[in-house]
Amino acid sequence: MLKWYLAATTEADIDQIFEIERYSFEQPWSRASFLEELICKNAVNYVVKSGNSHDHEEIVAYIFFHLIEDEMHLLKIAVTPEWRCQGLAVWLLGKSFSSALEKDVSTVSLEVRPSNKPAITLYKKLGFVITGKRPNYYSEAREDAMVLTKNLKEKAL
Ligand SMILES: CC(C)(COP(=O)(O)OP(=O)(O)OC[C@H]1O[C@@H](n2cnc3c(N)ncnc32)[C@H](O)[C@@H]1OP(=O)(O)O)[C@@H](O)C(=O)NCCC(=O)NCCS
Repeated sequence: MLKWYLAATTEADIDQIFEIERYSFEQPWSRASFLEELICKNAVNYVVKSGNSHDHEEIVAYIFFHLIEDEMHLLKIAVTPEWRCQGLAVWLLGKSFSSALEKDVSTVSLEVRPSNKPAITLYKKLGFVITGKRPNYYSEAREDAMVLTKNLKEKAL
């Protein structure tokens, strides 16, 4: 039996998402940014809830991305600390890539901090390659972003 399941994100989820967000990122998105994504035309977003019934729902992960023409741009993925290192991010990315492929999207790109070793290890494991750099992307920390890209039609894992 699955320990978690995928659900569409709703406004009611934003408080729990925001709590994970503040723990997970040095420069967290604001509540308003998440709410904007819920109504953005190109945006797709999912939450992962724990358990196997809707009686007790706890958000354990979330993902926000955009689909523009044949490209997916990953904006945000996070897993709540207690649920990390159990394969949840791989599972959530796999579900998201499948939904993008169904819409004829063929590539995915993202920005990541060079200091974010867990995320970089995860993305490389999934077949992402470094395709560029955005200087001073994380302006508060004066850190560049690495741009990673993956061909969704090439199977990884
Ligand atoms: C990055 C993050 C989403 C990974 O989520 P997760 O559910 O723990 O990842 P998974 O369990 O699916 O791990 C898959 C692989 O990623 C790599 N990985 C994950 N966490 C790692 C860590 N702490 N150190 C090194 N490698 C790690 C490993 O290769 C792992 O495979 P393995 O378990 O076979 O070794 C999670 O650590 C997180 O939410 N971090 C904060 C938010 C963030 O940085 N998001 C990405 C922004 S670009």
